Amino acid sequence: SDPDLVARAAAAKAKLGDKVFVLGHHYQRDEVIQFADVTGDSFKLAREAAARPQAEYIVFCGVHFMAESADILTGDAQQVVLPDLAAGCSMADMASAEQVAECWDVLTDAGIAGSTVPVSYMNSSADIKAFTGRNGGTICTSSNARRALDWAFEQGERVLFLPDQHLGRNTAVRDLGLSLDDCVVYNPHKPNGGLTTEELRSAKMILWRGHCSVHGRFSLDSVNEVRERVPGVNVLVHPECRHEVVAAADHVGSTEYIIKTLEAAPAGSKWAIGTELNLVRRLANRFAAEDKQISFLDKTVCFCSTMNRIDLPHLVWALESLADGRVVNRIQVDPETEKYAKVALERMLALP
Ligand code: 13P
Ligand code: SF4
Repeated sequence: SDPDLVARAAAAKAKLGDKVFVLGHHYQRDEVIQFADVTGDSFKLAREAAARPQAEYIVFCGVHFMAESADILTGDAQQVVLPDLAAGCSMADMASAEQVAECWDVLTDAGIAGSTVPVSYMNSSADIKAFTGRNGGTICTSSNARRALDWAFEQGERVLFLPDQHLGRNTAVRDLGLSLDDCVVYNPHKPNGGLTTEELRSAKMILWRGHCSVHGRFSLDSVNEVRERVPGVNVLVHPECRHEVVAAADHVGSTEYIIKTLEAAPAGSKWAIGTELNLVRRLANRFAAEDKQISFLDKTVCFCSTMNRIDLPHLVWALESLADGRVVNRIQVDPETEKYAKVALERMLALP
C-alpha cells in the first residue's frame, strides 16, 4: 500500500489515541486490517464494539449492517463511523422491512405467526433486527446459529429464518438433524411467498430466499475438482455456501472458526478454503512459513466487492476527519428501531 497513506493513517490514529477504536472484519483488505485494533468475525466484532465504552469513535472497517449493530450495542456518547457508506451487503439488501412485514401477514393469515419464531442473521438491516425483536426472535451469526435455532425451537414450533437461506438450511440439517423436507423457501417476489398454506404450516424452517453472492459461487464441482487436484486436501467452507457444498466439505464454520482451525492444523496439511479471497490470501501467506498449504476453493477470483469498498484512502479520510474534530459517515440507527433491534441482539448475546 501507498507509504504516504500508511504514514497519514498512522499519524491520525496516533493523534486520536484512546478516543478511537478501529474494528476490522476478516474480509477487509490487508492495507486496512493493519490499522485494526481488533479483528474478528461478525459475532466477535459486535461484542468488541459493546465492550469499548471509553472510545468516543468506533471506526468500523466492515459493512453497513455491522456498523449499525455496533451503533445499537454502544451508548449514545459513542459514534460509529463507516469509512465508505457504499459498503453494503447484497444479502442484507434481499430482505426489506416491507417484504418481511408482508411475510408476517402471510404467516398470520395461515394461523402460524404465533407459533413461529423469527431468527435473523446478523447480515440484515436494523429494520429486520427490530422486526425480529418485536416478534420474540433473536439474531444469530454464523458462529452461534446452532444455539440460536436450539433456543428458537424451545420457544415455538417453527422458525422463520432471515435472510440467508443457506445458513438456515445448513444449520437446520447439519446441526439440528432436520431433513431438507422440513425446510421451505419463502420467495418475497411471489404471492404467498410461492408457498401453499399447507406447505407453510407443515414446515419446521421457513427460509427467506436470500443468499451471499460471494459464497454462492462455490459449487460441488469446485469441491470435486480440488479433491482430484490436491490429494489429501481438507475442504473448509463458510456456512453461507450452498447446501451441497457444505455437505461435501470436511469442516464448516465462521471466519473466526476457519482461522482457529488452520492455527490448530498440523504442518504439512493441505487446505482448500471456501470463503472470501482477502482472508484466504492472508491465511495462505501467514501459514506458508508453517508448511501448511492453503488454497482458494475456486479458480475464479472472489472478493466481496462491498467489503473491498473500505480501502486505505477511505480509512485515511475517516481518521483524519475525526482527528480534525469532524465526524464523517456516522451510522446512527433511529431510537425506535434501535430499541427493538437491541432486544433481538441482546437475546443473541445471552444465548447459552
Ligand atoms: P462471519 O465473519 O461471522 O463468519 O461472517 C461472514 C460474512 O459474510 C460477513 O459478511
Ligand atoms: Fe454480504 Fe456476502 Fe459480502 Fe458477507 S461476504 S458482506 S454476506 S455479500
